[in-house]
Amino acid sequence: MIIELNKAASFLPEGAVKQYENRVSDAQKALEEGTCKGNDYIGWLHLPSSITPDFIDEIQQTAKVLQENCDAVVIAGIGGSYLGAKAVIAALDDNFSWLKPSDKPRILFAGNNISEDYLTELISYLKTVRFGVINISKSGTTTETALTFRLLRKLCEDQRGKDMARKVIVAVTDASKGAARTTADKEGYKSFVIPDNVGGRFSVLTPVGLLPIAVAGFDIADLVRGAQDMERQCDINVPFDQNPCAQYAAIRNALYASGKKVEILVNYQPKLHFMAEWWKQLYGESEGKDGKAIFPASVDFSTDLHSMGQWIQDGERIIFETVISVDAPESNLTVPADDENLDGLNFLAGRRIDEVNHMAELGTQLAHVDGGVPNIRIAIPRLDAYNLGQLIYFFEKGCGISGQLIDVNPFNQPGVEAYKKNMFALLDKPGYEAESKAIKARLEQA
Ligand code: PA5
Repeated sequence: MIIELNKAASFLPEGAVKQYENRVSDAQKALEEGTCKGNDYIGWLHLPSSITPDFIDEIQQTAKVLQENCDAVVIAGIGGSYLGAKAVIAALDDNFSWLKPSDKPRILFAGNNISEDYLTELISYLKTVRFGVINISKSGTTTETALTFRLLRKLCEDQRGKDMARKVIVAVTDASKGAARTTADKEGYKSFVIPDNVGGRFSVLTPVGLLPIAVAGFDIADLVRGAQDMERQCDINVPFDQNPCAQYAAIRNALYASGKKVEILVNYQPKLHFMAEWWKQLYGESEGKDGKAIFPASVDFSTDLHSMGQWIQDGERIIFETVISVDAPESNLTVPADDENLDGLNFLAGRRIDEVNHMAELGTQLAHVDGGVPNIRIAIPRLDAYNLGQLIYFFEKGCGISGQLIDVNPFNQPGVEAYKKNMFALLDKPGYEAESKAIKARLEQA
C-alpha cells in the first residue's frame, strides 16, 4: 500500500503536516501506554499480531460446518457487528455471484434494519433453503439484531429441527454478558468471544468479521497477514515520514484545521462500496462528538461523477477526497474494434477497460485539485484479502491516532443512546415508564 499526500499537502502551508509530528507521536504513545481517552478499548492495537494459526484454524473448522450444512448463512448484526464482514465479503466476491451457482453458502445480512418487508422477504427465501445463522452482538441486547435473531432462530428450529439448528447457529458475543450469550449457552450453540477491550467498529479482525468471511470462502489467514504487516509498518517506532497511519492522521487533521470539514472516501471499483460504509462508521462513530470532527462521506466513481461529481467540482470548498485506487484488476478485458465505429470508440480498440478507468481516475484527480479539492491517494496493488487486511488496520490505527488529535474519546458512542431511549419509551419497554410518559406528553403538545 502506498499513500500519496502531495496533491493534498499542496493546499496547506509549507510544513503544515510535519507540524503534527509531535502530537501524532504523543497520540501513538498514549495508545501504546494505555493512557489515552477510552483506554479500555484499545485491544485492536496489537490484535493482528496476537492472532494465532490455531485460532484461525478453529474459525475455519466452524466455517466448514456451516458450509457443509447450509445453502445460505444469515449474518445477524448491526454497526461494527456487520459492516466489517460485509465490506470484506463484498470486496472479494464476484460482482455477480448472486446470479451464479456456487458450492459455498450464499451470505445474507440481516439484523441491520427494522424493516418488516426486508424480514418478510428474507424469511420467504429462507423457507426454500437449508440455512444457518451467525448471531453477532457484543452487548447481546441490540434491538435490531435480537429481534431478527428471534425470528430466524424459530424458523431454523421449525424448519431444520433443534439438533440441526444447534449445529448451524453460531453466536459471536461477549464472554459472559447479554442475551446472546445466555441463549448460546442454554442452547449449546458454538460460540466465539468478542474481546472486552475491542469495540464493535474495531472488531472486524475478531470472529465478528473473520467467521462470516471464512464461511463466504475467503482467505482469513491472508487477511490477517495483511493486517499484521500493516501493524508493523505503522508501529510507533517507524519514523513519522515513513509511517502511513501517522501521515494520514496528520494530513486529515491539518486539512480539517484549514476548514476542510468533509472527507469523501472515493473508489473506482464497485466492490469497494461497502469498504466505504465500514470506513464511514469507523471515523463517524469514533470522532463525531463534543461538537467536533470531519464528516466522513463517500462516493463510488465513475458512477457518482454523473451525480455528486458536480458538487465536488464546484460546490462549497469544505471538502477533501481520499481515493482508494486499485493498481490492477483480476481480469483482462479489452475494447473490441468495430468496422463501422458508429459509437466513435475505435480510438480505444485494443486497450484495457482498466486503462480507461485509470484515466478517468487521473482526469478526475486533476480536475478536482484544479477545482480546489485536496486529494489524498491510497494505492493498493490488487483487491485481495491481503491488501484488504492492510487497509483495515491502516484505517483503524489512523482513526485511533486521529481521535486523539481532536481530543475526543474515539472508542465510545454515547450519542447512539439518544434514539434508543426514545424508541424504548415509545414502545413502552419495561423500565422506561417515566421516559414514556414524558415523550408522549411532548408529542401531544406538538
Ligand atoms: O462500533 C460500535 O460499537 C457499534 O457500532 C456497535 O457495533 C453496534 O451498535 C452493535 O452493537 P452490538 O455488537 O452490541 O450489537
